[in-house]
Amino acid sequence: MKQFNNAAMNPITVSAPGKLMLFGEHAVVYGHPCIVTAVGQRMFLTVQTLNSKLLTLNSPEVNVTNYSKLLDQLGEGEMPKGARFIEIAVKNFSEKYTVKSGLQITTRSEFASTFGFGSSSASTVCTIKALSELFDLKLSNKEIFDLSYKTVLDVQGKGSGFDVAAAIYGGSLLFFTGGKEITPLTINHLPVIIGYSGIKADTVRLIEKVAEKAEKEPEVVEDIYKRIEQIVEKAKTAIEKSDFEEAGKLMTENQLLLSQLDVSSEKLDAMIQAARDAGAYGAKLSGAGGGDCMIALRNAQGKPAVEKAIERVGGQVIDVETNVEGVRVENKQM
Ligand code: PMV
Repeated sequence: MKQFNNAAMNPITVSAPGKLMLFGEHAVVYGHPCIVTAVGQRMFLTVQTLNSKLLTLNSPEVNVTNYSKLLDQLGEGEMPKGARFIEIAVKNFSEKYTVKSGLQITTRSEFASTFGFGSSSASTVCTIKALSELFDLKLSNKEIFDLSYKTVLDVQGKGSGFDVAAAIYGGSLLFFTGGKEITPLTINHLPVIIGYSGIKADTVRLIEKVAEKAEKEPEVVEDIYKRIEQIVEKAKTAIEKSDFEEAGKLMTENQLLLSQLDVSSEKLDAMIQAARDAGAYGAKLSGAGGGDCMIALRNAQGKPAVEKAIERVGGQVIDVETNVEGVRVENKQM
Protein backbone atom coordinates (compact mmCIF):
# COMPACT_ATOMS: atom_id res chain seq x y z
CA MET A 1 0.00 0.00 0.00
CA LYS A 2 1.32 3.42 -0.98
CA GLN A 3 1.69 5.89 1.90
CA PHE A 4 2.14 9.65 1.95
CA ASN A 5 3.83 11.93 4.47
CA ASN A 6 3.20 15.53 5.44
CA ALA A 7 5.50 17.05 2.83
CA ALA A 8 4.06 20.34 1.62
CA MET A 9 2.98 20.19 -1.97
CA ASN A 10 1.71 22.78 -4.39
CA PRO A 11 -2.04 23.21 -4.60
CA ILE A 12 -3.81 21.45 -7.43
CA THR A 13 -6.90 22.79 -9.14
CA VAL A 14 -9.09 20.55 -11.28
CA SER A 15 -12.46 21.06 -12.92
CA ALA A 16 -15.23 18.75 -14.11
CA PRO A 17 -18.35 19.42 -16.18
CA GLY A 18 -21.99 18.95 -15.31
CA LYS A 19 -24.23 16.55 -17.24
CA LEU A 20 -27.52 16.29 -19.03
CA MET A 21 -29.33 13.04 -19.66
CA LEU A 22 -30.37 12.89 -23.32
CA PHE A 23 -32.10 9.48 -23.47
CA GLY A 24 -32.70 6.44 -21.28
CA GLU A 25 -33.12 7.67 -17.69
CA HIS A 26 -34.61 5.21 -15.18
CA ALA A 27 -34.21 2.24 -17.56
CA VAL A 28 -30.43 2.70 -17.16
CA VAL A 29 -30.70 1.82 -13.47
CA TYR A 30 -31.95 -1.64 -14.53
CA GLY A 31 -29.26 -2.60 -17.00
CA HIS A 32 -30.37 -0.75 -20.12
CA PRO A 33 -28.20 1.86 -21.88
CA CYS A 34 -28.59 5.63 -21.69
CA ILE A 35 -27.06 8.58 -23.54
CA VAL A 36 -25.57 11.42 -21.49
CA THR A 37 -23.75 14.58 -22.55
CA ALA A 38 -21.34 16.71 -20.51
CA VAL A 39 -22.39 20.36 -20.20
CA GLY A 40 -20.15 23.42 -20.28
CA GLN A 41 -20.71 24.66 -16.77
CA ARG A 42 -17.98 23.33 -14.52
CA MET A 43 -17.19 22.60 -10.89
CA PHE A 44 -13.69 23.75 -9.81
CA LEU A 45 -11.88 22.24 -6.83
CA THR A 46 -8.52 23.14 -5.30
CA VAL A 47 -6.70 20.88 -2.85
CA GLN A 48 -3.52 21.40 -0.87
CA THR A 49 -1.84 19.63 1.99
CA LEU A 50 -2.00 20.97 5.54
CA ASN A 51 0.34 20.41 8.47
CA SER A 52 -2.43 18.93 10.57
CA LYS A 53 -4.61 15.86 10.70
CA LEU A 54 -7.65 17.69 9.38
CA LEU A 55 -9.75 17.89 6.27
CA THR A 56 -10.96 21.48 5.96
CA LEU A 57 -13.56 22.39 3.38
CA ASN A 58 -14.95 25.59 1.90
CA SER A 59 -17.81 25.26 -0.59
CA PRO A 60 -19.53 28.65 -0.46
CA GLU A 61 -22.03 27.74 -3.21
CA VAL A 62 -23.58 25.13 -0.88
CA ASN A 63 -23.10 27.18 2.33
CA VAL A 64 -20.12 25.24 3.67
CA THR A 65 -17.54 27.55 5.25
CA ASN A 66 -14.49 26.49 7.24
CA TYR A 67 -15.90 23.02 7.87
CA SER A 68 -13.30 20.69 9.33
CA LYS A 69 -13.04 17.08 10.45
CA LEU A 70 -10.17 14.90 11.71
CA LEU A 71 -8.95 12.65 8.90
CA ASP A 72 -9.49 9.53 10.98
CA GLN A 73 -13.10 10.56 11.70
CA LEU A 74 -14.25 11.14 8.14
CA GLY A 75 -17.78 9.89 7.56
CA GLU A 76 -18.55 9.88 11.30
CA GLY A 77 -20.92 12.20 13.17
CA GLU A 78 -22.58 15.24 11.64
CA MET A 79 -21.92 16.03 7.98
CA PRO A 80 -23.48 19.12 6.42
CA LYS A 81 -25.35 18.21 3.21
CA GLY A 82 -22.99 20.28 1.07
CA ALA A 83 -19.91 18.49 2.48
CA ARG A 84 -21.03 14.86 2.24
CA PHE A 85 -19.80 13.85 -1.21
CA ILE A 86 -16.37 15.47 -0.78
CA GLU A 87 -15.89 14.13 2.75
CA ILE A 88 -16.79 10.57 1.73
CA ALA A 89 -14.65 10.86 -1.44
CA VAL A 90 -11.63 11.83 0.72
CA LYS A 91 -12.45 8.98 3.11
CA ASN A 92 -12.66 6.42 0.29
CA PHE A 93 -9.47 7.72 -1.31
CA SER A 94 -7.50 7.68 1.93
CA GLU A 95 -8.75 4.23 2.88
CA LYS A 96 -7.33 2.98 -0.39
CA TYR A 97 -4.12 5.03 -0.48
CA THR A 98 -3.55 5.97 3.22
CA VAL A 99 -3.27 9.75 3.16
CA LYS A 100 -1.44 11.00 6.27
CA SER A 101 -1.26 14.74 5.70
CA GLY A 102 -4.12 17.13 6.36
CA LEU A 103 -6.00 18.49 3.35
CA GLN A 104 -7.58 21.80 2.56
CA ILE A 105 -10.24 21.75 -0.15
CA THR A 106 -12.06 24.69 -1.74
CA THR A 107 -14.72 24.48 -4.45
CA ARG A 108 -16.29 26.96 -6.84
CA SER A 109 -19.20 26.07 -9.08
CA GLU A 110 -20.29 27.70 -12.31
CA PHE A 111 -23.75 26.18 -11.98
CA ALA A 112 -26.45 26.21 -9.32
CA SER A 113 -26.84 22.86 -7.58
CA THR A 114 -30.61 23.25 -8.10
CA PHE A 115 -30.45 22.75 -11.90
CA GLY A 116 -29.80 19.01 -11.56
CA PHE A 117 -26.61 19.28 -13.62
CA GLY A 118 -24.87 16.89 -11.24
CA SER A 119 -22.91 19.15 -8.91
CA SER A 120 -22.51 16.32 -6.35
CA SER A 121 -20.99 13.90 -8.83
CA ALA A 122 -18.82 16.64 -10.38
CA SER A 123 -17.42 17.55 -6.95
CA THR A 124 -16.86 13.86 -6.13
CA VAL A 125 -14.94 13.34 -9.38
CA CYS A 126 -12.94 16.54 -8.81
CA THR A 127 -11.96 15.33 -5.32
CA ILE A 128 -10.66 11.96 -6.52
CA LYS A 129 -8.89 13.47 -9.56
CA ALA A 130 -7.29 16.26 -7.48
CA LEU A 131 -6.02 13.80 -4.85
CA SER A 132 -4.69 11.51 -7.58
CA GLU A 133 -2.73 14.49 -8.98
CA LEU A 134 -1.64 15.81 -5.58
CA PHE A 135 -0.08 12.46 -4.67
CA ASP A 136 1.06 11.73 -8.21
CA LEU A 137 -0.86 8.48 -8.45
CA LYS A 138 -1.81 8.77 -12.12
CA LEU A 139 -5.12 6.97 -11.61
CA SER A 140 -6.82 5.93 -14.85
CA ASN A 141 -10.27 7.25 -15.74
CA LYS A 142 -11.73 3.86 -14.82
CA GLU A 143 -10.02 3.92 -11.40
CA ILE A 144 -11.36 7.44 -10.84
CA PHE A 145 -14.81 6.22 -11.94
CA ASP A 146 -14.80 3.26 -9.54
CA LEU A 147 -13.82 5.32 -6.46
CA SER A 148 -16.20 8.16 -7.39
CA TYR A 149 -19.11 5.79 -8.08
CA LYS A 150 -18.50 4.00 -4.77
CA THR A 151 -18.65 7.44 -3.08
CA VAL A 152 -21.96 8.33 -4.78
CA LEU A 153 -23.46 4.99 -3.73
CA ASP A 154 -22.13 5.40 -0.15
CA VAL A 155 -23.80 8.81 0.15
CA GLN A 156 -26.92 8.41 -1.95
CA GLY A 157 -27.49 4.66 -1.99
CA LYS A 158 -28.82 4.56 -5.55
CA GLY A 159 -27.88 5.58 -9.07
CA SER A 160 -26.35 4.28 -12.28
CA GLY A 161 -23.22 6.49 -12.20
CA PHE A 162 -24.00 8.12 -15.57
CA ASP A 163 -23.34 11.53 -14.02
CA VAL A 164 -19.96 10.38 -12.68
CA ALA A 165 -19.00 9.07 -16.15
CA ALA A 166 -19.98 12.37 -17.83
CA ALA A 167 -17.88 14.35 -15.32
CA ILE A 168 -14.83 12.14 -15.98
CA TYR A 169 -14.94 11.30 -19.68
CA GLY A 170 -16.83 14.35 -20.99
CA GLY A 171 -18.26 14.42 -24.52
CA SER A 172 -21.38 12.34 -25.02
CA LEU A 173 -21.51 8.74 -23.90
CA LEU A 174 -23.48 5.56 -24.32
CA PHE A 175 -23.46 4.35 -20.73
CA PHE A 176 -24.44 1.17 -18.86
CA THR A 177 -25.01 1.13 -15.10
CA GLY A 178 -21.94 0.95 -12.88
CA GLY A 179 -19.75 1.84 -15.86
CA LYS A 180 -19.97 -1.70 -17.28
CA GLU A 181 -19.67 -0.07 -20.69
CA ILE A 182 -18.79 3.55 -21.35
CA THR A 183 -18.65 4.31 -25.09
CA PRO A 184 -17.87 7.80 -26.38
CA LEU A 185 -20.20 8.91 -29.19
CA THR A 186 -18.99 10.81 -32.23
CA ILE A 187 -21.06 13.97 -32.17
CA ASN A 188 -20.23 17.22 -33.97
CA HIS A 189 -22.94 19.34 -32.64
CA LEU A 190 -26.10 18.99 -30.58
CA PRO A 191 -28.70 21.79 -30.98
CA VAL A 192 -30.32 21.20 -27.62
CA ILE A 193 -32.45 23.77 -25.82
CA ILE A 194 -32.62 23.42 -22.04
CA GLY A 195 -35.46 24.66 -19.86
CA TYR A 196 -35.29 24.63 -16.06
CA SER A 197 -38.62 24.00 -14.35
CA GLY A 198 -37.75 25.90 -11.17
CA ILE A 199 -38.45 22.78 -9.11
CA LYS A 200 -35.71 20.65 -7.56
CA ALA A 201 -36.10 16.97 -8.45
CA ASP A 202 -35.71 14.38 -5.71
CA THR A 203 -33.80 11.73 -7.64
CA VAL A 204 -33.75 9.04 -4.95
CA ARG A 205 -37.49 9.37 -4.27
CA LEU A 206 -38.27 9.09 -8.00
CA ILE A 207 -36.07 6.01 -8.39
CA GLU A 208 -37.98 4.48 -5.46
CA LYS A 209 -41.32 5.46 -7.00
CA VAL A 210 -40.39 3.64 -10.22
CA ALA A 211 -39.19 0.63 -8.21
CA GLU A 212 -42.57 0.50 -6.44
CA LYS A 213 -44.37 0.61 -9.78
CA ALA A 214 -42.12 -2.20 -11.07
CA GLU A 215 -43.06 -4.29 -8.06
CA LYS A 216 -46.77 -3.84 -8.71
CA GLU A 217 -46.66 -4.13 -12.50
CA PRO A 218 -43.41 -5.92 -13.41
CA GLU A 219 -44.33 -6.77 -17.01
CA VAL A 220 -45.58 -3.29 -17.82
CA VAL A 221 -42.44 -1.65 -16.47
CA GLU A 222 -40.08 -4.16 -18.09
CA ASP A 223 -41.80 -3.54 -21.42
CA ILE A 224 -41.33 0.23 -20.96
CA TYR A 225 -37.61 -0.30 -20.25
CA LYS A 226 -37.23 -2.43 -23.38
CA ARG A 227 -38.89 0.22 -25.50
CA ILE A 228 -36.67 2.89 -23.97
CA GLU A 229 -33.63 0.75 -24.86
CA GLN A 230 -34.78 0.58 -28.50
CA ILE A 231 -35.17 4.37 -28.51
CA VAL A 232 -31.66 4.80 -27.09
CA GLU A 233 -30.18 2.60 -29.83
CA LYS A 234 -31.96 4.53 -32.58
CA ALA A 235 -31.10 7.87 -30.94
CA LYS A 236 -27.40 6.97 -30.90
CA THR A 237 -27.44 6.52 -34.68
CA ALA A 238 -29.56 9.63 -35.25
CA ILE A 239 -27.38 12.01 -33.22
CA GLU A 240 -24.16 10.58 -34.64
CA LYS A 241 -25.58 11.30 -38.12
CA SER A 242 -26.76 14.77 -36.97
CA ASP A 243 -30.32 13.74 -37.89
CA PHE A 244 -31.93 15.96 -35.28
CA GLU A 245 -35.40 15.65 -36.71
CA GLU A 246 -35.28 11.91 -36.04
CA ALA A 247 -33.55 12.41 -32.66
CA GLY A 248 -36.29 14.88 -31.69
CA LYS A 249 -39.00 12.40 -32.62
CA LEU A 250 -37.26 9.82 -30.44
CA MET A 251 -37.15 12.30 -27.54
CA THR A 252 -40.90 12.70 -27.70
CA GLU A 253 -41.35 8.91 -27.78
CA ASN A 254 -39.01 8.60 -24.78
CA GLN A 255 -41.06 11.25 -22.95
CA LEU A 256 -44.26 9.29 -23.54
CA LEU A 257 -42.70 6.26 -21.87
CA LEU A 258 -41.40 8.37 -18.96
CA SER A 259 -44.95 9.68 -18.49
CA GLN A 260 -46.12 6.07 -18.34
CA LEU A 261 -43.60 5.56 -15.53
CA ASP A 262 -45.28 8.53 -13.75
CA VAL A 263 -42.13 10.58 -13.43
CA SER A 264 -43.11 13.66 -15.42
CA SER A 265 -44.89 16.64 -13.85
CA GLU A 266 -47.43 19.26 -14.90
CA LYS A 267 -44.75 21.92 -15.22
CA LEU A 268 -42.44 19.69 -17.28
CA ASP A 269 -45.37 18.59 -19.48
CA ALA A 270 -46.31 22.24 -20.10
CA MET A 271 -42.74 23.18 -21.05
CA ILE A 272 -42.38 20.13 -23.31
CA GLN A 273 -45.71 20.80 -25.03
CA ALA A 274 -44.86 24.50 -25.46
CA ALA A 275 -41.51 23.61 -27.07
CA ARG A 276 -43.18 21.17 -29.45
CA ASP A 277 -45.96 23.62 -30.36
CA ALA A 278 -43.27 26.21 -31.16
CA GLY A 279 -41.70 23.86 -33.67
CA ALA A 280 -39.20 21.77 -31.68
CA TYR A 281 -38.40 18.46 -33.38
CA GLY A 282 -39.15 16.85 -30.03
CA ALA A 283 -38.74 17.30 -26.29
CA LYS A 284 -38.54 15.36 -23.05
CA LEU A 285 -37.65 15.67 -19.40
CA SER A 286 -34.00 15.10 -18.51
CA GLY A 287 -32.96 13.15 -15.42
CA ALA A 288 -35.14 11.67 -12.73
CA GLY A 289 -38.21 13.83 -13.53
CA GLY A 290 -40.59 15.61 -11.19
CA GLY A 291 -38.62 18.83 -11.76
CA ASP A 292 -35.13 19.94 -12.82
CA CYS A 293 -34.81 20.39 -16.59
CA MET A 294 -36.47 19.50 -19.89
CA ILE A 295 -34.65 19.42 -23.19
CA ALA A 296 -35.76 20.03 -26.76
CA LEU A 297 -34.07 19.70 -30.13
CA ARG A 298 -34.38 22.28 -32.86
CA ASN A 299 -32.07 23.80 -35.47
CA ALA A 300 -30.57 27.28 -34.92
CA GLN A 301 -33.28 28.91 -36.99
CA GLY A 302 -36.09 27.70 -34.75
CA LYS A 303 -34.28 28.17 -31.44
CA PRO A 304 -35.64 31.64 -30.44
CA ALA A 305 -39.28 30.58 -30.92
CA VAL A 306 -38.81 27.43 -28.81
CA GLU A 307 -36.98 29.38 -26.09
CA LYS A 308 -39.74 32.01 -25.92
CA ALA A 309 -42.39 29.30 -25.73
CA ILE A 310 -40.61 27.64 -22.80
CA GLU A 311 -40.34 30.98 -20.99
CA ARG A 312 -43.98 31.77 -21.65
CA VAL A 313 -45.04 28.78 -19.54
CA GLY A 314 -42.68 29.76 -16.72
CA GLY A 315 -39.53 27.82 -17.64
CA GLN A 316 -36.03 29.31 -17.41
CA VAL A 317 -33.89 28.79 -20.51
CA ILE A 318 -30.33 27.79 -19.65
CA ASP A 319 -27.82 28.42 -22.39
CA VAL A 320 -24.98 25.90 -22.04
CA GLU A 321 -22.67 24.11 -24.37
CA THR A 322 -23.00 20.33 -24.57
CA ASN A 323 -20.49 17.58 -25.43
CA VAL A 324 -17.67 19.36 -23.52
CA GLU A 325 -14.36 18.10 -22.13
CA GLY A 326 -14.34 15.89 -19.03
CA VAL A 327 -12.33 16.30 -15.82
CA ARG A 328 -9.06 18.18 -16.30
CA VAL A 329 -6.23 19.73 -14.33
CA GLU A 330 -6.50 23.51 -14.43
CA ASN A 331 -3.17 24.33 -12.81
CA LYS A 332 -0.62 22.65 -10.64
CA GLN A 333 0.63 25.88 -9.16
CA MET A 334 -1.50 28.78 -7.94
O1 PMV B 1 -31.96 13.32 -11.44
P1 PMV B 1 -30.70 13.10 -12.18
O2 PMV B 1 -30.39 14.21 -13.13
O3 PMV B 1 -29.56 12.78 -11.28
O4 PMV B 1 -30.92 11.83 -13.12
C1 PMV B 1 -31.31 10.58 -12.60
C2 PMV B 1 -31.36 9.57 -13.69
C3 PMV B 1 -31.79 8.17 -13.24
O5 PMV B 1 -31.70 7.31 -14.36
C4 PMV B 1 -33.25 8.19 -12.78
C5 PMV B 1 -30.94 7.62 -12.11
C6 PMV B 1 -29.53 7.25 -12.50
O6 PMV B 1 -28.65 7.34 -11.65
O7 PMV B 1 -29.30 6.82 -13.65
